[in-house]
Amino acid sequence: MKTRITEMFGIQHPIIQGGMHYVGLAEMAAAVSNAGGLGIITGLTQRTPEKLAAEIARCQAMTDKPFGVNLTFLPAVTPPDYPGLVQTIIDSGVKIVETAGNNPQKWLPALKEADIKVIHKCTSVRHSLKAQKIGCDAVSVDGFECGGHPGEDDVTNFVLLPRAADELDIPFVASGGQADARSLVASLAMGADGMNMGTRFIATREAPVHENVKKALVAASELDTRLVMRPLRNTERVLTNSGVESLLEKEKVLGDELKFEDIIEEVSGVYPKVMTDGEMEAGAWSCGMVAGLIYDVPTVKELIDRIMTEADAIINQRLAGIAA
Ligand SMILES: Cc1cc2nc3c(=O)[nH]c(=O)nc-3n(C[C@H](O)[C@H](O)[C@H](O)COP(=O)(O)O)c2cc1C
Repeated sequence: MKTRITEMFGIQHPIIQGGMHYVGLAEMAAAVSNAGGLGIITGLTQRTPEKLAAEIARCQAMTDKPFGVNLTFLPAVTPPDYPGLVQTIIDSGVKIVETAGNNPQKWLPALKEADIKVIHKCTSVRHSLKAQKIGCDAVSVDGFECGGHPGEDDVTNFVLLPRAADELDIPFVASGGQADARSLVASLAMGADGMNMGTRFIATREAPVHENVKKALVAASELDTRLVMRPLRNTERVLTNSGVESLLEKEKVLGDELKFEDIIEEVSGVYPKVMTDGEMEAGAWSCGMVAGLIYDVPTVKELIDRIMTEADAIINQRLAGIAA
């Protein structure tokens, strides 16, 4: 399949694995890139420029295909060493960066100078237009279904994607709720040039996370995610568990008085507990509604091959048959 996204990133299939804290390690990114998609290492999981350089080198040893690095700009009292992380990416020779969380404008001159393509993750048409205006090469349009931070507008992809297509000139991928060939074909039909998957890629053999996480995703239905931190205007979609339910109870009781410190126990330091140790009740970790569409734990290659084969059948048999 050839789209503006496959052309821009030099990949075989229009499928991207979005940056995921404690999941987007070299093993994950290399598996996706080796299967013809675009794998992405999550920069902030590595914390320091030195560790990120080592992770990129590990990935380079596992694949000769293009892969990217995610840089998430978070509000933080002590921000990570963003200049150091950006310089590390430039020095490593990586040519694709996925930015998220905040306007990446400050970093674009250095990235562009190094001939790096930037795809910015946005949850609204207005942010997508802003990304286009400041010079991003592509955007990843993340609907309300998505795992992680869906923003505060709550527009689902059935409206958000065609709206993005109506407004944007640069290519975009559909993100949030993408699981299979139906997702890909629908996203292309709505004007996207490919799709970005997060949650679905966690339930693969190569995903470097505890088996309990994969089992939880297979067991979960589309009703099992919750929105947390909405009162702080930092909404996150997570898989429910006892830690999350206790967090939601605090949100209910404290109402507008809620502060980040009140819920720190349920949101801070949770990722290593869940992803590495398999403690599934530990607290809030991002997960999309798409968990309801995850029925198995294939290899990344099996997943991507299945998507591409079934997409071909949907387009050339089912839809062609209907249209005939
Ligand atoms: C466990 C997990 C961790 C994530 N961590 C990040 C992150 O650190 N930075 C980021 O930009 N997006 C992060 N995301 C969002 C994904 O990159 C992607 O946009 C999202 O998962 C798409 O929705 P889906 O889960 O429905 O496929 C995370 C998602 C998940 C499921």
